[in-house]
Parts: sequence; C-alpha cells; structure tokens
Amino acid sequence: MKYLVTGASGQLGQAVMRAIKRSGQVGVGTTSKTSEVSTHLTLDIRDAAAVVRVVATVRPDVIIHCAAWTAVDAAEDKKWQDLVWQINVEGTANLARAAREVNAKLIYLSSDYVFNGNGQKPWQADDKCYQPINFYGQSKLAGELAVARSLTKYFIVRTSWVFGLGGSNFVEAMLKLATQQNSISVVADQIGTPTYTEDLACLLVEMAASEQYGYYHASNEGGYLSWAEFATEIFKQANQAVTVLPVTSTSYMASKAPRPHNSRLDKSKLVATGFSPLPSWQDALRRYLRARQQFV
Ligand SMILES: NC(=O)c1ccc[n+]([C@@H]2O[C@H](COP(=O)([O-])OP(=O)(O)OC[C@H]3O[C@@H](n4cnc5c(N)ncnc54)[C@H](OP(=O)(O)O)[C@@H]3O)[C@@H](O)[C@H]2O)c1
Repeated sequence: MKYLVTGASGQLGQAVMRAIKRSGQVGVGTTSKTSEVSTHLTLDIRDAAAVVRVVATVRPDVIIHCAAWTAVDAAEDKKWQDLVWQINVEGTANLARAAREVNAKLIYLSSDYVFNGNGQKPWQADDKCYQPINFYGQSKLAGELAVARSLTKYFIVRTSWVFGLGGSNFVEAMLKLATQQNSISVVADQIGTPTYTEDLACLLVEMAASEQYGYYHASNEGGYLSWAEFATEIFKQANQAVTVLPVTSTSYMASKAPRPHNSRLDKSKLVATGFSPLPSWQDALRRYLRARQQFV
C-alpha cells in the first residue's frame, strides 16, 4: 500500500513515516517548506492545484493528513486567523477533494478541542454535540466537516495532548523548566490523556489497512489525569527533584486561548471495532524518555 503523509516533518508526521517504513510499505511525505536536507515533497496544502497535482502524481492508496496550524494560542490572534482557516479548513478540503479524485482513503487528525469541555463524562467518538471554545478548535471541527461532507472512505481520528520525538510538546516544556526552577505551577483542572506519537502512528497504519471508516478517539490508555499529574509523573520518571504546584486554569494566565476542562476521550469504539488500544501513557512516557536520549 502507498501512503501520502502531509506534515511529515511535524511531530506526528515523523512518527507516521517511521511506522510506515517499519511496516515495509511505501510512504511519501510532504512539507510546506523546501529544504535541501529533506527527502519530502514540497506541498503547501493551501494551494488547491498543487494538492491535486501531487496527489495525482503519487496516487496514494491512503492519505494520512497530519499537517495543521497547531499553535493554539496564536490562533486566537486575529492577524493569524485567515491563515489558520486556510491551512486547517481549506487545506483539508483540498486534500479531501484530491483523495476523492484518486479514490484514496483519507485519515484526518482532529482534536478533543471540537468539544466544549463541560462536565466530566468522556466524549464518545460519535458524539455530535460539537462546541469548540477556541479558534483552533473551530478550525479543526470545520476540517472534520469538510472531510465528512466530501468523502465516504475517511477516518476522523481525534487525539489529545500529543508528545513525540522532534516536537515541541508538554514533556519537553516541563524538562526545560526543570533546568531553571525547582517548583513549577501546572494546571490541575483540565483532565485528559496524553498520546505518544509512536503509538498513535502504529494505530493509523493499522487503520489504513482496514475499511472501518468513521470517527474514532485515540490516546494512550492508563486512565484520565490532569496536566499537573502528568508533570508529576514526568519528573518522577526523569528523576528530577521538582515540586509541582497544582493551579486552576483561571489563575494560570500564560495561555491566551481557553482550553476545555474535560478532554476525556472515550476510546471504546476503537476496541469494539477491532483496532488495538494504545499502551498506557505511563509506559509511553517511559519509552519516550528513553528514545529522546538517542534522538538527534
Ligand atoms: N499536538 C497536539 O497536542 C495535538 C492534539 C490534538 C490533535 N492534534 C492534531 O494532530 C496533527 C499533528 O499534530 P502535530 O503535533 O504533529 O503538529 P506539528 O508538529 O505542528 O506538525 C504540523 C505540521 O503541519 C505542517 N504545515 C503547516 N502548515 C502547512 C501548510 N500550509 N502546508 C503543508 N503543511 C503545513 C508543518 O510543516 P512545515 O514545517 O513543513 O510547514 C508542521 O510540521 C494535527 O492535525 C493536529 O491538529 C495535535
């Protein structure tokens, strides 16, 4: 099977390319920027004609669409919102149209941010009560709708709290702060689950081989937790003597975009459909901390 992977130099895209290679299949990656060292194709997904051209040339069986504007706070700034929409919504619609032309499956990565974060009940994969509370979430939801409107062979995979090699993520942020401070304030009233890119990438490759289309939630197993609890486990596993001071979102002024309090994603549909659940986040964190030491 042949894959086209957008955002192949991003945090998840890199892991997806590795998972495809490990499975012995062919992956063609794309990035928006031309680089002399990269072997990826250059493709700005906002360019509809270029998207059609690349997809028609590669003729993939599956497109794994990891490219996105992912700077959640910057997306609140009016000066970036046209660009966010062009990438996350129009870029996604361009890929969906091109996928239809070549009859390829499309796997679209989405987010827990399509929900409003109220209550404590885990969100079901087929819940339709969307109500994003920030602009990034609105754009990811509009991307979902663009996919679902134009295709039948699609997977919409919502994930959360992603960390992985080569990315700027929460684990890296905590480890960096640990070199500067011995106590760190971390929000304790946003509950969800982390997702290790290597584990999610394996699932995406497994999905690509199937025809069980539809909406899924995918993050690591191991139970729901707060960012403060995640930080505590990071410092414990990394042997860092740092005290985590749990704070509320309202007292934490560093973020511009409101974040959902309830990011609990119910993943039971994955298992019910026959896909492998991801390993526990504690185990994923252990593997990540080991792998990042060798990663250059
Ligand atoms: N990170 C999270 O916590 C999280 C949570 C939930 C869902 N997700 C979703 O998971 C997916 C992967 O996220 P990630 O963490 O891997 O993000 P990431 O590291 O920011 O990677 C996104 C990639 O998108 C590419 N991109 C941006 N604009 C583009 C454009 N106009 N044309 C082509 N490529 C473009 C960038 O590549 P270039 O450098 O080549 O521009 C970047 O490498 C995204 O859909 C994201 O919304 C992420």
